[in-house]
Amino acid sequence: MTQEELFKKLVAHCKEYGFIFPSSEIYDGLSAVYDYGQMGVELKNNIKKYWWDSMTRLHDNIVGIDAAIFMHPRTWEASGHVGAFNDPLIDNRDSKKRYRADVLIEDWLAKQDEKIAKEVEKARKRFGESFDEEKFRATSPRVAETAARRDAVHQRMADALNANDLEALRQIIIDCEIACPISGTRNWTEVRQFNLMFETKVGSVAEGANTIYLRPETAQGIFVNFLNVQKTGRMKLPFGIAQIGKAFRNEIVARQFIFRMREFEQMEMQFFVRPGEEMMWWNKWKETRMSWHRALGFGDDNYRFHDHEKLAHYANAATDVEYNFPFGFKEVEGIHSRTDFDLGNHQKFSGRKIQYFDPETGESYVPYVVETSIGVDRMVLQVLSAAFAEEKLDNGEERTVLRIPAQLAPVKAAVLPLVKKDGLPELAHRIKNELKFDYNIQYDEKDSIGKRYRRQDAIGTPFCITVDHQSLEDGTVTVRLRDTMEQSRVAIDALHGLIESKVSMRSLFDKLK
Ligand code: GAP
Repeated sequence: MTQEELFKKLVAHCKEYGFIFPSSEIYDGLSAVYDYGQMGVELKNNIKKYWWDSMTRLHDNIVGIDAAIFMHPRTWEASGHVGAFNDPLIDNRDSKKRYRADVLIEDWLAKQDEKIAKEVEKARKRFGESFDEEKFRATSPRVAETAARRDAVHQRMADALNANDLEALRQIIIDCEIACPISGTRNWTEVRQFNLMFETKVGSVAEGANTIYLRPETAQGIFVNFLNVQKTGRMKLPFGIAQIGKAFRNEIVARQFIFRMREFEQMEMQFFVRPGEEMMWWNKWKETRMSWHRALGFGDDNYRFHDHEKLAHYANAATDVEYNFPFGFKEVEGIHSRTDFDLGNHQKFSGRKIQYFDPETGESYVPYVVETSIGVDRMVLQVLSAAFAEEKLDNGEERTVLRIPAQLAPVKAAVLPLVKKDGLPELAHRIKNELKFDYNIQYDEKDSIGKRYRRQDAIGTPFCITVDHQSLEDGTVTVRLRDTMEQSRVAIDALHGLIESKVSMRSLFDKLK
């Protein structure tokens, strides 16, 4: 199965099992907007809890807030979003489709990498056991030529983006002979800038309505509350403010399911530091955040850092944590050194003094900021992509299983009476009713036990607890594990401890120390 086929299957699976639905589907959906179903919302909440607790509980100097989505419109002038939160867009005159110019070029660059990978694979087959990949990459003229062309285009794109040179971006598209994926033609318009913020109005028209924006990042809600939190919390530098909330961007290239949405959720933490110490903290947060990802056990090689070619208007250093999705390595999280840009500009635009008095140096200054910013939805997609598997079993049957880390699994255990009689449903209900105070538990008595196991595998439930006639006699049940399908007899009294040992976030937090 190709990665593309696997991804299609995953998208269908998410809908079939109540994880993610297209928004307002009965009206044929709304592009790049999705709803989370009964399983999706549990997974998402668990991811948020993993992030929130790791920030606000494991760090004595990080606190959380929940700011409003609507903010004073001057906020977005101060932050630079009114002037500079743009995407470079280009239209194909034949298909009438609109694209992000940089994304068209990035796709072309990815194709060059695929070409190189194909050459390597061909050579591997040709040379067999004796194949030395490193040597081949270093010496093959064809690989060298493709790599040189790729690197040159990459550099031109970075230069054009940094200089905001739209004509240069268009010229790369022409020079690389990039065609529209729909019409197949190269009949391109000029490249134009397009602001990504959604506007709406507050107040009635008669009173004179004001244009306000749906926030494109949650970070600004933190910056405007810097003084409130610092003063009321008696916070001393360095300290952080964390927030989880919705953000909105009028994305033109909406692709890859929940990877790029118009309404999405962010988990952001702004860490305020002394000027001059920001690079030390930026490196520290890179390490901390990478450990947070890797603790989930999806394979260390599936993550990498990607430093930004074009720094955002507020940053002096920026990197992305990328995960190896079925459609390639893509950004999940950004770690940005934002200097004093935001607080400094809010000070300027609001006329309020936004400074910190440092008792150690006796000076007042605008703190510098290191930000960690991760998309909740991209994390959901990361977990689902890593967890989704189709397996052939020893008995020739097949199963689809979501190997979601137990701590994040939507349902922690299913209680299944073997038959619907002889007092087994009553005992199963008693077990469920006891466990449900601590965990999300399902009860299921419909269909054969094999079918019920499959249904639980498909939503990623780590434990299936089967109640049978022996349970009535000796107070034990069969516990079947999702990943290994191993079964063992466990005393009913021991179930809570067994579940706790696997689903507690503690086991993840221990890896972060
Ligand atoms: N405050 C900084 C900031 O917003 P960003 O790199 O634009 O930085 C941070 O966004 C994270 O938010 C990204 O790494 C990604 O996970 C998520 N994100 C951004 N745009 C998104 C979109 N359209 N759909 C889903 N997630 C998105």
